Amino acid sequence: DWTMAAFRAEAIQRIRAQVGDGKVICGLSGGVDSSVAAVLIHEAIGDQLTCIYVDHGVMRGGETEQVVRTFRDRFNIRLVHRDASDLFLGQLEGVTDPERKRKTIGRLFIEVFEEEQAKIGGADFLAQGTLYPDVIESVSATGGPSVTIKSHHNVGGLPEGMRMKLVEPLRDLFKDEVRELGRELGMPEEIVGRHPFPGPGLAIRIPGEVTRERVQILQKADAIYLEEIRAAGLYDAIWQAFAVLLPVKSVGVMGDGRTYDNVCALRAVTSTDGMTADVYPFTMEFLTRVSARIVNEVRGINRVTYDITSKPPGTIEWE
Ligand code: XMP
Repeated sequence: DWTMAAFRAEAIQRIRAQVGDGKVICGLSGGVDSSVAAVLIHEAIGDQLTCIYVDHGVMRGGETEQVVRTFRDRFNIRLVHRDASDLFLGQLEGVTDPERKRKTIGRLFIEVFEEEQAKIGGADFLAQGTLYPDVIESVSATGGPSVTIKSHHNVGGLPEGMRMKLVEPLRDLFKDEVRELGRELGMPEEIVGRHPFPGPGLAIRIPGEVTRERVQILQKADAIYLEEIRAAGLYDAIWQAFAVLLPVKSVGVMGDGRTYDNVCALRAVTSTDGMTADVYPFTMEFLTRVSARIVNEVRGINRVTYDITSKPPGTIEWE
């Protein structure tokens, strides 16, 4: 009779047996998988684990603070928090091609991660939140999208100099089981139930050049959108919901004057695995409320559209 409580106990024994008195580092992204892996491993080996959180400057608003609060303050996990936003945003200057954005962010992520792990004196093991579907996808090896999807966080395969053994306690689990394990470990619903978020973050939700100013505009619009989704009780019915800041300006009216500002697109989809997706059917009343709030509250946006493309033929992200 298999239960999550039994899995937890066994996983802890396995981690202890594998790691012994070695040191483990774990790259935290704020996502469900790395978060649950970190809490589980911490329960097994305590301060032998150090987590490294690299802020690439294209996180959602408030997300960094939430990660630090949760892991350091609530779970007492050793956490290195590196604010590398200047470095990332500097290197993203002038970059408009989506794959170059991904490569730039992936490369810098590895560089910064290696720097931070060297600062703490290295480690014997690298922990990863690899799930069962990731294992299958990397075995099926056709070089499909899965390879790029995990590439940003796949810090195990890439760095030549980092010869660490992998600790992957979630390898036998599917996403819904990881969420259940997180709840079993007492993790807050806001982490366990959170929507997937791409490694390159908001950089691939700002078609065209990514600037600090554009990131801030998008963070505000995205926060309003998600706040309304939560308030309407719709968050858990949606696979992913986010705003995209378009590289298009449109004319609007504000009081007696005209505005000439950015357009923002809203996206929300249902899905079971991200491979296919359907548009979430919000009511018009909901959409117009969100639109009014964004245009009124976010300087720099004067028009909002809703993306009604399913996948295929669209992708979930815009880049
Ligand atoms: P698409 O846009 O290809 O997205 O339909 C499918 C799922 O993958 C996520 N995604 C990424 N995740 N790095 C990631 O870690 C990436 O470069 C990346 N691109 C897309 C996307 O958010 C969705 O969940």
